[in-house]
Amino acid sequence: MENEVCRILGCQVPIIEGGLAYVGNGMLAGAISAAGAFGQVGTAGRSIAQVREQIEEAKKRADGRPFGINLPLSEHRDMSEYVHLITEYAPVLRAISLSAGNPRPLIPHFQQLGLKVMVVVSTPEQAVKAEQAGADLLVAEGYEAGGHNGPAELTTFTLIPQVVRAVSIPVVAAGGIVNGTGIAAALLLGAKGVQLGTRFVATQECEAHENYKRELLLRKSADTTIIERSMGRVTRVLKSPFVEQILEIEATHPTWETLAPYVSGTKNKTAAILGQMDEGWVNCGQGVGMIEELPTAADLIEELVTQTKEHLARAQTLF
Ligand SMILES: Cc1cc2nc3c(=O)[nH]c(=O)nc-3n(C[C@H](O)[C@H](O)[C@H](O)COP(=O)(O)O)c2cc1C
Repeated sequence: MENEVCRILGCQVPIIEGGLAYVGNGMLAGAISAAGAFGQVGTAGRSIAQVREQIEEAKKRADGRPFGINLPLSEHRDMSEYVHLITEYAPVLRAISLSAGNPRPLIPHFQQLGLKVMVVVSTPEQAVKAEQAGADLLVAEGYEAGGHNGPAELTTFTLIPQVVRAVSIPVVAAGGIVNGTGIAAALLLGAKGVQLGTRFVATQECEAHENYKRELLLRKSADTTIIERSMGRVTRVLKSPFVEQILEIEATHPTWETLAPYVSGTKNKTAAILGQMDEGWVNCGQGVGMIEELPTAADLIEELVTQTKEHLARAQTLF
């Protein structure tokens, strides 16, 4: 029986690369798709010209296999330039994932262009709304995840079964999944596929600075924390002296103007791309303690598939 996620996305294994602000480059997305999984070019932190370049790079690297694009929606920014660019590139893209904001107004537009639309949700209620708005597939992302999380802070283990029960479209699990154990567990919880973020940063093809990747290999799972709570947002990042400084400022109930220079995308780029880990912050999920190697995307996908099969077979013998 064909996996529904693979049918929708045209991939061989239902493993998706999540949008990766600043570090979701075309070389990585293309390599992931070429290996039979589903890569996505990230738009967050990139200018229009840079996104164009990365889509072209992904196309070159994907070996004719389908790939997608991630568009985080912000109520505070005009996204129309990005929507125009994605419209232009729709013929080379298979799918778009919409995260962060309200996807409803854009879903019909992208579907008319022939794209499959994935919506990232963090509660069963959001999942129902996204299904009603016409999403083809849902990515249910738990609180373990690197980057922006939902304010309800539901963990992957509790979120997935509730979302699966609430909707009839396929659900992909995200948050804390870095190996075959996690993938097998997500499938047993009812997901039809998985989305990984932090694990894909620690690969050869990812554009993240070597200092960031090195940290991912060294750090333990308790080395992440949440910033931006004072602003009603939940962003999981790697602990560091710089992040400690952010938390100290947040404890004083600062205005947005005071906090913004510390939590801005520029400070993310400073650490993630320029490698100045003491001058900025990086997104990171709780699964970081289980990342020990820096493989190529192809080797990683192969290993994930082997491990998942082993763990699913093992689960069958246990009960
Ligand atoms: C470095 C990094 C950047 C991220 N940027 C985005 C983004 O731009 N858009 C988005 O929808 N999700 C973003 N996320 C979330 C991922 O797409 C994914 O859902 C999440 O990382 C899954 O949890 P994991 O990190 O435990 O694998 C980011 C995550 C990380 C680690």
